[in-house]
Formats: sequence, structure tokens, C-alpha cells
Amino acid sequence: MNANQPIGQRVAEVMSTMTLDQEDFLVEGHGTANEPPTSGGNPYVFWMPGITLSCGSIPALGEEDGPAGVADGLSGVTQLPAGVGLAATFDPSLASQYGQVIGSEEWGKGAAVNLGPTINIDRDPRWGRSFETFTEDPFLNASLATNEIDGVQSTGEMSQVKHFAAYNQETNRNTPADNVIIDQRTLNEIYFPAFQAAVQQSKAGSVMCSYAVVNGDFACQSPFLMNQTLDQEWGYPGFVTSDYGALHDTIGGALGGLDQEQPFNTYFGPTLNPPALEADVENGTIPRAVINTMVQRILTEMFRFNLFTSPPTGNPFSTVTSTANQAVGNDVAETSATLLKNASHALPLPAKNAGYVAVIGPAASTQPIYGGGGSAYVNPSQTVTPLAGILATAGSGSFIHYQPGLPTDASLAAIPSADLSPAFQPITSFNNFGQVYTGTLTAPESGTYVLAITNDCGCYTPEYLTLDGKQLISDPSTPPVHTYSVAVNLTQGEQYTLSVGGALISSLTWAKPSDLASSMAPAIAAAKLAKTAVVVVSDDTESEATDRLSLNLPSAQDELISAVAAVNPNTVVVVDAGAPIAMPWLDQVNSVLDAWYPGQSNGTALADVLFGKSDPSGHLPVTFPTGLSEVPASTTAQFPGMNNEVQYSEGIDVGYRWYDSQHLTPMFPFGFGLSYTRFAFSGLRVDRSTVDGVHDVHVSATVTNVGKSAGADVAQLYLGDPASTGEPPRQLVGFQRVKLGPGQSARVQFTITPRDASWWDDGAGGWTEQRGLYRVYVGDSSALANLPLRNAFEVTQTPGGRQVAVTSPSTMTPGKPARVTVTLTAGGDETLQNVRLALQLPDGWTARHGGQKVLPVVKPRRAVAVTFVVTPPSWAPSTNSVVHATADLGPDAQREAGTTVTVS
Ligand code: BGC
Repeated sequence: MNANQPIGQRVAEVMSTMTLDQEDFLVEGHGTANEPPTSGGNPYVFWMPGITLSCGSIPALGEEDGPAGVADGLSGVTQLPAGVGLAATFDPSLASQYGQVIGSEEWGKGAAVNLGPTINIDRDPRWGRSFETFTEDPFLNASLATNEIDGVQSTGEMSQVKHFAAYNQETNRNTPADNVIIDQRTLNEIYFPAFQAAVQQSKAGSVMCSYAVVNGDFACQSPFLMNQTLDQEWGYPGFVTSDYGALHDTIGGALGGLDQEQPFNTYFGPTLNPPALEADVENGTIPRAVINTMVQRILTEMFRFNLFTSPPTGNPFSTVTSTANQAVGNDVAETSATLLKNASHALPLPAKNAGYVAVIGPAASTQPIYGGGGSAYVNPSQTVTPLAGILATAGSGSFIHYQPGLPTDASLAAIPSADLSPAFQPITSFNNFGQVYTGTLTAPESGTYVLAITNDCGCYTPEYLTLDGKQLISDPSTPPVHTYSVAVNLTQGEQYTLSVGGALISSLTWAKPSDLASSMAPAIAAAKLAKTAVVVVSDDTESEATDRLSLNLPSAQDELISAVAAVNPNTVVVVDAGAPIAMPWLDQVNSVLDAWYPGQSNGTALADVLFGKSDPSGHLPVTFPTGLSEVPASTTAQFPGMNNEVQYSEGIDVGYRWYDSQHLTPMFPFGFGLSYTRFAFSGLRVDRSTVDGVHDVHVSATVTNVGKSAGADVAQLYLGDPASTGEPPRQLVGFQRVKLGPGQSARVQFTITPRDASWWDDGAGGWTEQRGLYRVYVGDSSALANLPLRNAFEVTQTPGGRQVAVTSPSTMTPGKPARVTVTLTAGGDETLQNVRLALQLPDGWTARHGGQKVLPVVKPRRAVAVTFVVTPPSWAPSTNSVVHATADLGPDAQREAGTTVTVS
């Protein structure tokens, strides 16, 4: 094959030698390393074996999780901090380094496709995968996504960005009950932007469709999501793979735009008799062009990533972690540490002579946590506990004393039959899977108990514990934690109905109030004597396959913090969690440091921050609510849904947009984060007071470190659209991390584009812009109190809701010219100059006049159309191809659209 030929031509050449059977082999799943493979030995979670053709061969394609490093149980890899921690850095360059680590390690393991990053919007803090994704904000999301994907793909690795789209909960996932009812405006403004940026700016090779049902269609069978949005609107040339078992129908998937079923071959393979996809192609139910298109998209990306000539050479057993990669993880962990409270300057601890420091909490040593659960969990190559990090870093004159304060969940005692009747029997056989145990618990004492269950099946199926009908635990049996616990108050002599069921129940255990009192006593004694008490707590129950039932910490950690703070107000709480938690003890403690899920260098990064070697400069990528009644999706109809519908009725008011528009004060606002030093903002400059709808506005401001130590802040720019747009009061449209020595200043620069000032108009079927006053806010959190710099500019005229439409014959013949018309619809009140209408065509296609035309003047309210003569190449295979068009309305404003043409 000639490597100088266009990729499209090379793909066509390969396809010309393929049988239908071989094409089907490429688009079906072939088992998974996680379960017995259906054919051959599959080393990866998703897998496409190579094929020998008459004229050569197609290389195999390994697709492996995940978002925070190489996952799926492989070893010799670097466990990076969770995605939410990366997001807390607000640092695009760290996102790119993070991506490079993932890309190089996946490649080294022989998997050419990384299943990540996870870029679903964090709609609700209860979502089990909040830790794995980035943020509630679409702008921050897109910035991190593109930088991470660029990093991954710079190593030669392909990124499979996931999960498209509107996948925001685990409850009822992959069932018709997770039917997301959502409007176009909300999808386009909140849930789509990072995906659009991932495929258009970063050219992610692949996309994973999600478990969600979106307005009635399973995402992996949704023509709206795949054919229309990804392919036509965004001109996406790559391939879409189903999430694990997320395809439910052969015809729906094939005609909806899915390109590859994973990891099984239930609907695209020969499992059904007759083989469904092949049979449907043979009998004409599915046109041949459809399966050809799937194959073309997969091969196109494989050629683009040079996989035919330079496939990865490593294997799942290769050791790929390195000191340099671990250093990136450490850097992200340190930078992500978010200081939420620091009364009396409790932090940093003095590097020397810190005195007597009581380190308390199972999470500090006996039960540490490094990452969230599920397919994103990465096996660390080595770990440093918080206690080990503190011991290694504390200087002379510091005396570190450790007390766990609570028993570990795994060490709790079985509930004796004297207190629980009938006696609990473990359910360990898959024959009894799902069986429910119900007993009567008679409380022997009054006070706080810890109850725990262990679900050992490893099957991503939640096992539940309920007490008097109230569900208290949902334990999904994902790596790394199989025992989940909860604190509950019981009264001596009272009887409670306790039920456990759902999966395999290997143990039902507890700690009574007296047990807890005896494990807390030495910790309280230590805290009493200490100059500082550092309590490390964790939420180790965040995982794929289940949502959190509350924001409370598991076990009796809240009680432990309160007991410690009661004897020592100089208490510092370190939180290892991937999502917002409740902090009932907030007023009792001096400091709260959120370290997220810090990955394998947990203790090293933490100690550097605690002892002031590193400034905690993370900022919240998610709002911390005061309680669940305050969150945007607070009703059952919204989360987790009822009657087979999940109402996204909060619309675009997700995250801080909701709190701001409802005038609610959360516990900590989006964007918030303290530092060991202080910063001042001054000198706001907005470079123009009026602007039209096609030019940018430039904003700059000065950030000064007015404190005594070096530190970093994240300057943030929020834009407030005119109320008539229906947009929330403020939206993030720029951010910049600045590192400054004491007394130093830096100027931060932001650009507000017409797209930032646009909103999606369902009536116009696209983006629109509106005249009016746009307010500019600069500071270092989304709360008005932290946005000291304010100004405004006026948009005086706009192209309004002008959109692009493309019309073409529905069929074209290779080598034969055809006419394609691009129309810019009427709209707005701005006279546009030098509007460029341009076609973006599949590889090898030609268009007369280079497929573009500049219109010197386009009057408002007048539609314009240009017709191009377009010719598919003579070698074009029979596929469904997208003809995409853009209209550059001016230097900085664009509209786009596409249409699908069958080539035959
Ligand atoms: C998850 C995906 C993951 C896949 C393969 C699914 O359960 O939703 O994120 O990539 O499994 O492990």
C-alpha cells in the first residue's frame, strides 16, 4: 500500500478486499479480559482482533480503561489522581501531562485505544462516578478534556472520550428507567460542549456512547446523538464504540450510527442465529453502505494513528510506570489539594518544631484510599499512606503520634445471633444470587453504631442494606473496596427490621457504641495532648455501578471528627473523597483540606501541602451544597427518576448556575479555594465598551500576592448575559492559574468569544446571540463575594439566530459531479462582511472553487445560498458520507451543519 495516498484511498483499498463476514468481524465485540472471552484470548477489556486479508492484514486493536491511568486490573502502572482532582487544579498544562502519562502507559501495555477521559457533566454529587469525571461546568470541562486528549494522542495513543451523552447517574443505568428527558438547549449548552471540543479541537479518534437513554432512545442507538449531532453537525470522522453492553438492538445501533459493539457480539456478531447484522445486510434491512461506513470509520482512525505501520509493541504484562510518570501524579495531587477552611492559620504546620501532632483516622493508615471504584480504578504500583508521608516529611521538633480512632470496616465483628434473629447466613453461592435476608435487630445499647456489608461477587451489582425499610448502603462490588459501612443511631431495646440482598452477601458486621467508644478513646486522649490534631477521613464508597445514598461519610468518621474537635479545636480535617461531602463538624474545626482521590502518591503530596512545602492551590470544580434539599436535581423525578423518566427539569441551571439563579448559598461555591497566602485583584480592563456579534472582547486584570509566602491562585472570569436570554446570572468563560511570590503581581488575559456570549435557541435550532449589556466579573470563585472586579460591555448588533443548512442529492456516484448548496439562513440585525461559506468533505473528494466562497456583504434578515459542484473520488467505497459546511460570519463567529450522502 502506498503511504503517500490519502488515508481515504488506503481505507478504500483495504475495504475493496474485505468480505461482508470480515467487515462484521471488525464491528462486533470479541469478549473481554474481564470475563471469559467468546473467541480467542482477549487481553484487553475491549478488543478487535486483527484480520488477515487477501492482500495483507488489519492489525488488532486493544481498547483499555481508563480515565486515571491503565486500569482493568493491570499492574506495573501509575495510579494518577482522579479526574475531579485534575479538574481542581484548573491547569490545562497539567491535564496535558496527565494525558501523556496515560497515553504512554496504555501504549506500553499494547492497547492503542485509551477508554477515557470521562467528561460527563457532574450533574449531582450523588453520582457514583463524580470522582471519575471532571466538573459541573461545561467550559472547564472542555478545556480539561481537550488538553488531556491532546496529551494522550501526542503519544500515538487514541483517545476514546466517554460517555456520549447525558450519562449522569448509576441508578438504573443501561435500562429504560434511565430515560433522560432533556431539551436541546440544555444538551447543547451543558452536556455537549466538552464532547464537541473533544472531537473538533482535539480530534479524539473515538467516542464511547453511553448507558443513558436520551429522550426515549438508548444512546448507542440514537440517530440524534450519533448520526445527527456527532457526524452531521460536528463533522466527526471517527468511530463510536458502545459502552459495555450498551447496545440493545441490531438495527437501532447500525442505523443510529454506532460503529462497534463492545465487548460482546450479541447484536452485531454471529451470536444470534442467523447472525443478526450480516443477515440484515444480506436481506437488505440494513444497507451495505451502513456496515461499510462503520468499517471505514474504524480503519480511517487506525490509519490516522499509524496503526497499520507502527502498532504498539508492548503487552499487558509490560511494566510501564516510571519515576517521571509518578512525579506527574504527585504534581497533580499537590496542585489539586483544595483548602476550604483555615481558621487561626492552623495550616501549614511548621516545617520544623511542629510539636506534638496527633494523626487520626483509619484513612490515614489502616484503611487508606487512593482512587474511586469501578472500571476507572487503577492498581497502584506502590503507595504512600497519609501517615507515612507525614512521618517522612515532618521536621525535627515534630512528634507524630497515630491513632486510627475507629476500627477498619473489614475488621468489624459479625452481628451475633443474640442481637439478630434469625441468625444471618452469608450468601456465597451464585445459585442464591439476589436472595434477601431479613432479620430483627434488637439494639443492646443506645448510641451510634456502624453497620457494614461485604459484597464479594466482583460483579458490579449492588447489594443493599436497609433498616426499617430505609436503604442505608449500596455496595456494588467493584474494585477496590468490597465492604461498605454506615453510621446509624439506635436505641437500646428497640427492634429494627434489617434486610440485606441484591448480590452475594459474605458478611454483615457491626461496631456497637461501646466498641466505637473504646476505639475512639485513645484518639481523643492523643488529640487532647496534641498541639494539632490531623484527622484524615475518606469516602471509600464512591464507585461506578452505584450512586451514593447520602453525602455523609461512611463509618463513624463524622462522630470521630466531632469527638476530636471537642477536645482540641486546633483540628485539621483532611478529606480523601471524589465528591462533595456533608461537614456537620465544619464549625468545630480550624481547617479543612480536600485532597480528592490523590492516587498512589497520596501521603507524599499531602505532607508537602500540610507542612507548607507546597501551597494548596486547588479550586472546587463542583459546588459543595449544604444538603441534598439544596441540589439542582433535588426531587426524585429529577434524580434518580421515576416512572421510567429522569427529568432534567433544572435545565441549564446545573451546578453553580442553579445556586446563583435560586439565590442559594452553598457550603462552598464552585471555583472556591483558599491558599496559605492572600491574593488581591485590581486593574480590570475590558478592551471595548461595545462590540458586534462577530468579534471578541479582551479582558485583563492584575492578580497580586499580598501575603507573605509564595502561592498560586486561579483567576476566573464569569460572564453575565442579559436576563432576556434566560441564561443564569454568571457563567465561567475564562480562567488562569497564576503562581506568584510574595509581593509579586501578574496580569491575566482572557478572551470572550461570540460563542461565549451565545445561547442555544431551540426555536432557531442553533446558537443565537442577543443585543444587550453583558456583565464581566473577575475574581477567584463563582460567588459574588469573591468576584471583586466588575465591568460590562454592550453587544450592539448580532447575526442573531442565523444557521447553516446543507442540501445535496441523497445519493452520489463515485467520480460523478453533483451539486451541493450551502444556505445561510436569515437573521439578526448585523450587516456581515466577508462571510466565508466553506465545505468540509471526506478524504479525496473535490469541490470546484476549492469548496469555498466569500460573500463580501450579507445584509441582515436576508438568506444567502451558494451552490458548489462536488465530486466523490472514483475509488470511493459505497458508504454514507457526511458533507459538512461552515459559515464564518466574521473573524470569530461560526455556524456549521452537515448532511449525509450515500455514495454508491
Ligand atoms: C464503563 C465504561 C468502561 C467499560 C469497560 C463500563 O461499565 O461504563 O466507562 O470503559 O465498562 O470497562
